[in-house]
This record gives sequence, structure tokens and C-alpha cells, in this order.
Amino acid sequence: MRVLVTGGLGFIGSHTVVSLISNGYDVVIVDDLSNSKLSVLDRLETICGKSIDFEQINLLDYNSLDQVFFKYAIDFVIHFAAFKAVGESQEKPLEYYQNNLVSLINVLNCMRKHSVFKIVFSSSACVYGTPDSCPIPETADIRPQNVYGRTKAVCESILQDTSAAISEFSVALLRYFNPIGAHESGLIGEDPNGIPNNLMPYITQVAAGKRELLTVYGNDYPTPDGTGVRDYIHVCDLADGHVAVLKKLENNTGVFIYNLGCGRGYSVLEVIHAFEEVNHVNVNYAIGPRRSGDSAVCFSNPAKANKELGWYAKHDIKDMCRDSWRWECYARDHEV
Ligand code: UFG
Repeated sequence: MRVLVTGGLGFIGSHTVVSLISNGYDVVIVDDLSNSKLSVLDRLETICGKSIDFEQINLLDYNSLDQVFFKYAIDFVIHFAAFKAVGESQEKPLEYYQNNLVSLINVLNCMRKHSVFKIVFSSSACVYGTPDSCPIPETADIRPQNVYGRTKAVCESILQDTSAAISEFSVALLRYFNPIGAHESGLIGEDPNGIPNNLMPYITQVAAGKRELLTVYGNDYPTPDGTGVRDYIHVCDLADGHVAVLKKLENNTGVFIYNLGCGRGYSVLEVIHAFEEVNHVNVNYAIGPRRSGDSAVCFSNPAKANKELGWYAKHDIKDMCRDSWRWECYARDHEV
């Protein structure tokens, strides 16, 4: 079975490629390198011990994508490639809608043309916006609060409508909570462009001395220590969730929606302290004002994925902190 992985050199995509190959799937990666590096491919090949097919393609270019479908016999698509910075999405809505929606539509049109009917879509917990209560089940209201989240929600609708109209289309919508950590080899991990938006890459860069100070965005939330609580999940667990859902799609048709999270929350201060303890490093931080748009608490109910896919997050917060740091040290020492 061959899986086309769009955005396969990115953070979640690259870890999913490792899981796919270690579970016996063949892979072809397409990536335009707009937010990833070609060296990730070399490091993936080192981890997997084999060469991996790669095509440098922008998904807005339908004809190039069509050629990939002619060149390889594809059984499944996992579609990661998308713009993903929440703040930037508010400033560049048209670029975000154009890129994230048209890419998906091109992928679906190529799939239909080449009779490939099984797709896994990389969605996000941000489709829920600020939840009424936690843990969040898949049945919670969809009301994203930023442009990025709205592109994900619209893509989910496109996929659901396509499956409703063309019954062969089987779709999995995976709503990720907060992926952190890195492959245990330390060879791949999150490699944000410029100043990180997210907590863990900021922590690792402060610990590594690349940045001076982490600002904790608010300590007056209604949480045990006043800082925001999130459902952090090890990226390798998330990657394994994709393999589990492919098995579901192999034998079933329809639309399947799953939260991929651990089902418990950690506060910002708990993450910082776990990181310091596990890695014996200091994270210089200061409390600052709240970040606009942040909610106090967000964590999943992953029971549906647990039950229907037999999938469970196996790594704890210590593993996540240890592996994130190992990757940061590799990236620093090798000037990745
Ligand atoms: N935080 C800080 N300081 C920072 C960065 C983050 O205190 O420098 C805090 C935030 O306020 C929040 C927590 O750390 O309480 C996590 O923030 P992230 O930016 O890492 O993650 P978010 O939960 O805000 O958003 C992430 C992704 C979104 C995705 C969402 C899904 O950025 O793309 O998870 O829940 F949609």
C-alpha cells in the first residue's frame, strides 16, 4: 500500500512518514519546502534505513500534482500541507483561504481522476474555538475563532460534502490537540521559521540560549496555577494515530472524526517545570499579559479514538520534554 503524504517534510508529516514506513507502508512525499527543509528527507532516510520518494511540488499547481498521481500507484492520501500560523492567518486571510482550500480541492480532484478514494485530513482542535467545557468530545460545536481555524473547518466541510456526494470517498478528519516532542533519534523535530509562536519550541530555544526569556501569557486564568492548560501530545503518538486510522479506512467507508489528544491538561508552568526537571536545564521565564484569543483550558476527550481505533497516547509529559530537548540540541549542534 502506498501513501501520498502532502507536507511530509513538516513537523507532524515527517513523524508520520516514520510511522508509516515502520508499519510497512510505501510512501511518496510531496512538499514545496515553504516551511520545511530538504535535509529532513536525508534524516528521514537515515531513521528509516531506506530511500523515500519525494516530489517538490506546490499543491496549488494542479498539473504537477496530477503528474505525481500518474507516476505512482497511490492507495491513500494523508494531507498535511497547509499554512498554520494563527496570528499570520488573521493578517493574510486571502492567502490562507487560497492556499489551504485550493490545495485540498486540487488533491481531491486528482484523487477522483485517478480513482484514489481514501484520505486522512490534518485538522485541529482549534475548530472547537473556546469550548463550553472540557474534555471536548468530537460532537462539540464547531466555532473556530481565527482564520486558520476557519480554513480547517471549511476543509472539513469540503471533505464531508465530497464523501456525501461521491460515496466511494472515505475520509478521516483528525483533530489534533497540542503536538510537541520529537522522534527519539533526535534527528527530526519541530523547526519553526523565525520566532516560535508555540510554547514548546519557545521553551527549547530559551533553554538553548537562542532566546533570552519566555513570556508566560497570563497567570490569572481560572486554573490551578493561573496559567493556560492544554492537552499536549507526543508527536510520535500523533503519528501512530494516522496509521491506526488508515487501517480503519482500509475496511470502512464514510466519514470518521477523531480527537487525537491525551485527554488531560498541563498548565504552562507545569510544562516549564517538567522540562527543567527532566533535562536539568533552566528556562528563564517571566509572567506577562494574556495573549489575545487564548482560552484558559483546552483538552480532549480521546475516548472515541481509543475505542474505535485501539489507539492510545503512550508518551507522558516527561517523554515529550526530553525528546523536544534532544531535538533542539541536535538542531543546535548541527546548525539545522
Ligand atoms: N504560551 C505562553 N508563552 C508562549 C507561547 C505559548 O505562555 O510564548 C502559552 C499559551 O498562552 C497557551 C499555551 O502556552 O496557554 C499553549 O500555547 P501554544 O501557542 O503552544 O498552543 P495553542 O493551544 O495556543 O494553539 C495550538 C496551535 C494551534 C492549534 C491549537 C489546537 O498553535 O495551531 O493548538 O488546540 F490549533
